[in-house]
Amino acid sequence: MTWNRKHLLDIESLSAAEIMMVLDTARAFKAVGARAIKKVPALRGKTVVNLFVEPSTRTRISFELAAQRLTADVINFSAEASSLKKGETLKDTARNLEALNADIIIIRHSASGAPHFLARFLNASVINAGDGAHEHPTQALLDTFTILEKKGKIAGLHVTILGDILYSRVARSNIWALTKLGAKVTLCGPSTLVPKIFEQMGCRVTHNVDEAIADADIINLLRIQHERQRKSMFPSLGEYTSLFGLNKARLEKTKPDALIMHPGPINRGVEIDSEIADCSRSVILEQVTNGLAVRMAVLFLVNGGKGPQEIAA
Ligand code: CP
Repeated sequence: MTWNRKHLLDIESLSAAEIMMVLDTARAFKAVGARAIKKVPALRGKTVVNLFVEPSTRTRISFELAAQRLTADVINFSAEASSLKKGETLKDTARNLEALNADIIIIRHSASGAPHFLARFLNASVINAGDGAHEHPTQALLDTFTILEKKGKIAGLHVTILGDILYSRVARSNIWALTKLGAKVTLCGPSTLVPKIFEQMGCRVTHNVDEAIADADIINLLRIQHERQRKSMFPSLGEYTSLFGLNKARLEKTKPDALIMHPGPINRGVEIDSEIADCSRSVILEQVTNGLAVRMAVLFLVNGGKGPQEIAA
């Protein structure tokens, strides 16, 4: 098959074959990153705009570096210093960026559906870099890439996602990607943050952390998304940490080769003990490294790249 999507808006609408095509293309770009000359001319003459209306470290910087590695011109839009502050709408902002010849607009926004909205009227390609609590597709792609790299497969693995699932776009995108690729997914956290309705996405839901992590091959921890919660979802952070935080005692009860993942930013001492975040089973920084290759692959494909076969060996 060849890639024929202009936008990357979510994982829900992708097939397993399309997900694998992004991962295969990312593998080819990771090999390019190991060369002395890390740049390729795939996006020469193209303009990529990072339209981030919510804070970001990893996603924004890795998209910027990915676009530079593909020889694109990159504009970083700062919401705080923009005319959004003077009342300009998102639609007018995006149309003005397009009037300045933006070819690809990467958007992060607090409103679920903002990238889908832009894709309805823009000629530019739109990439979702996180929309509200809806989806964060490139995070799920880099997470599955990392799992595949480390474990050699996805199908049949048991992945536990532990933390604030309800408000997490990372969780939703990971659930779509992992279940499409044949993994067994368990969700765990307080009942207020992990409602049973998630079983409709093909996951197991439990509120017992020891049970959730006992036979997991991957433990993916999520932070509490305070910025999206309109009320307190549990009595205190201390209680959350004691009931659901990953500490040394809990880690000792897991499979010895279970990997520890986290999309970042991590809250040390809350959802993860500092020593676990930095231990040999943690692949948190490798996820960040892989984000560069995955985002190069996504930029390449939405720009008309057909697949990994087009990237010179
Ligand atoms: N994982 C993630 O989206 O991190 P940033 O918010 O720093 O981009």
